[in-house]
Amino acid sequence: MSVAVITGAASGIGAGLARLAAAKGMNVVLADRDLAGLEQVAAAIKAQGGSALAVATDVTQQASLDALADKAYAAYGQVDLLFNNAGVLSTGNCWEISDAKWQQSWQVNVNGIVNGLRAFVPRLLQANRPARIINTASMGGFLPSPMMAPYTATKFAVVALTESLATELAALNGKIKVSLLAPGPVKTAIFREAPSEASSDFHGMMSGLLEQNGLTPDEFAEHVFAAIERGEYWIIPQPEMLDPLLQARNKIIETRADPVFAWAPETAD
Ligand SMILES: NC(=O)c1ccc[n+]([C@@H]2O[C@H](COP(=O)([O-])OP(=O)(O)OC[C@H]3O[C@@H](n4cnc5c(N)ncnc54)[C@H](O)[C@@H]3O)[C@@H](O)[C@H]2O)c1
Repeated sequence: MSVAVITGAASGIGAGLARLAAAKGMNVVLADRDLAGLEQVAAAIKAQGGSALAVATDVTQQASLDALADKAYAAYGQVDLLFNNAGVLSTGNCWEISDAKWQQSWQVNVNGIVNGLRAFVPRLLQANRPARIINTASMGGFLPSPMMAPYTATKFAVVALTESLATELAALNGKIKVSLLAPGPVKTAIFREAPSEASSDFHGMMSGLLEQNGLTPDEFAEHVFAAIERGEYWIIPQPEMLDPLLQARNKIIETRADPVFAWAPETAD
């Protein structure tokens, strides 16, 4: 039976991926710093007859990812899908967001993935079996946004990191495939952090966007697994949202125009 390891699995997209992986008959290894949340997700999977292992994990710590890999291989003997999915989001003007919040964004959103790669890629290569690594970026990895610079800057980094990874692994033996997952709005708790005074309106607008236009995590997971089954590198479940904005952004760069807030509705055409 195949095995999926999912970071950020206590909530939102990660929990949805875990539920669907288990429903498809996979053994799932759930990792998050929120152990209580993880145990709830694991208990619900087990109640449906699935197999789930909850492992308290802080993706910012290499030792924690190494321990996760040890536990996954000890429990199930193999890993077929690795979802590097944990992420955090802070809002505010970039010069007003604290150093601690900036550091946390880099540590979780970027180094969290690198730590996952260091822990798992050598074992995946040694196993010499087909596997897939799926790194979660965001539409924000293509579209810079005001009021969430640490998020969009780190998600741009995830887009670049994941392409580097894909070409490095393809140059080896090609058995380990890579996907870049770029969600649009999904109804999760990603905007859980209270906004600053400066970002209060923006925070309300974006939270509303998720609620009004977002997929549920379970709907979203169906799109992700369908793309994995098709073997896709670019997993973009809401292309109707990304593509027009990406074309507009590319045009801005090609014509050397001034930046605009791409997600503002009036700039979408
Ligand atoms: N919800 C959206 O609309 C949306 C859009 C684009 C991208 N994303 C991305 O999807 C991924 C999942 O986010 P979500 O929307 O489900 O949000 P979420 O907040 O519901 O889930 C994120 C999970 O990551 C965990 N986490 C945070 N820091 C961690 C750490 N140091 N170690 C381990 N776990 C940690 C949290 O505890 C939480 O369970 C993130 O990378 C996010 O940036 C979400």
